[in-house]
Amino acid sequence: MACSKVFHRSIVLLRNPNTLENYVGHRACSWWGAVQMGPPDVILGVTEAFKRDTNPKKINLGVGAYRDDSGKPFVLPSVLKAEKRIADKQLDKEYSPISGTAEFCKHSILLALGEDSAHVANGQNATVQGISGTGALRVGGAFLASFFPGPKDIYLPTPSWGNHNPIFRHSGLNVKAYRYYDPSTCGFDFKGALEDLSKISERSVVLLHACAHNPTGVDPRPEQWAEISALVKKRKLFPFFDMAYQGFASGDVAKDALAVRAFLKDGHQIALAQSFAKNMGLYGERAGAFSLICTDKEEAARTMSQIKILIRPMYSNPPIHGARLVTEILSDSNLRQEWLKDVKLMADRIISVRSTLQNNLKKLGSSRNWQHITDQIGMFCFTGMNQQQCERLTKDFSVYLTKDGRISMAGVTSKNVDYLAEAIHAVTK
Ligand SMILES: Cc1ncc(COP(=O)(O)O)c(C=O)c1O
Repeated sequence: MACSKVFHRSIVLLRNPNTLENYVGHRACSWWGAVQMGPPDVILGVTEAFKRDTNPKKINLGVGAYRDDSGKPFVLPSVLKAEKRIADKQLDKEYSPISGTAEFCKHSILLALGEDSAHVANGQNATVQGISGTGALRVGGAFLASFFPGPKDIYLPTPSWGNHNPIFRHSGLNVKAYRYYDPSTCGFDFKGALEDLSKISERSVVLLHACAHNPTGVDPRPEQWAEISALVKKRKLFPFFDMAYQGFASGDVAKDALAVRAFLKDGHQIALAQSFAKNMGLYGERAGAFSLICTDKEEAARTMSQIKILIRPMYSNPPIHGARLVTEILSDSNLRQEWLKDVKLMADRIISVRSTLQNNLKKLGSSRNWQHITDQIGMFCFTGMNQQQCERLTKDFSVYLTKDGRISMAGVTSKNVDYLAEAIHAVTK
């Protein structure tokens, strides 16, 4: 078999004592003898450590998935209803079109741009289903790598969602950064962001979190978005919006889409990645969408044809079940209203637990300013705790979080919030 080939290579590599181990014994005859163990996924590593902990008070604040007030995963009642309706229809399991169904794509983009969107009415959108938000970003990355006419540079906020960098690097783009978060205020570094954006070379791509910035929970205010939009235009940058939390941030789907809609009003062409993981609780169903908003219908048809050509060899066509749930919910006005209430319920629970945590820290006499806990929005809170404090929180209190001080507010409940405040206070005194 392959032994002679691998052995031949090993003669060269044996000269380096560090690689010796890879080429002796039973590994000598494997194609994969030289593959190194990769680092574990940071978030999954947190969950694994949490599972091993036997402390009954343990809390997992690492994972970015909503939990109800008992700390349990939450299937939205509107989703359960849609699921039943779909089961009753006894639909077939045929392949979806490469782009997902036209109905799914239309409802998704209308949710983002508004039911009265002129862009959609004019057929200016090229929209495809993505494999949730990640897949939508990856399709967008592939399209930009193939067709973007400027430098293949994409600028991410610092920090950004941990998967953005690998997604765009894997797509073949050069990943660069602009300032976003100010550790001294635990808020938005507006001045830094503007300064950096104004220096980016013209015709580059800039990634913007539409709402509920992950990991910081820090969003620009509407007037700040207006200035960013003006600057992006002046510098001839191309805005790529990642909207993974529409409705989940404020409880209001229109409010959370403010930035995307404002940019379109200002005349930008945009790329948009949407996810239904958080706002419909469809994490494992992998329903999302990627859209390009073009100058006219003809351009949308051309770009759409190329997006489909890119998707075909990647995964052929997207999964059907989650997309059916989304379509069922968004196309029926009663069910849609029920879903909007479900989204608000999730957002309100998180907003309320933010206040409770902040109040508890005040009551415990913390001398720190915890204003940012309620200023920040969405799933995550960037607490401002340093690595040592995070490690103590885990070691002494069984509170699990990533070392950057990010906590998932979704893991905080009325039952564990007192304990959490005591633990945070103890490590930040
Ligand atoms: C900013 C951001 N973008 C995209 C995603 C994509 O998530 P999914 O692929 O589960 O839809 C996430 C999920 O955590 C996110 O936080």
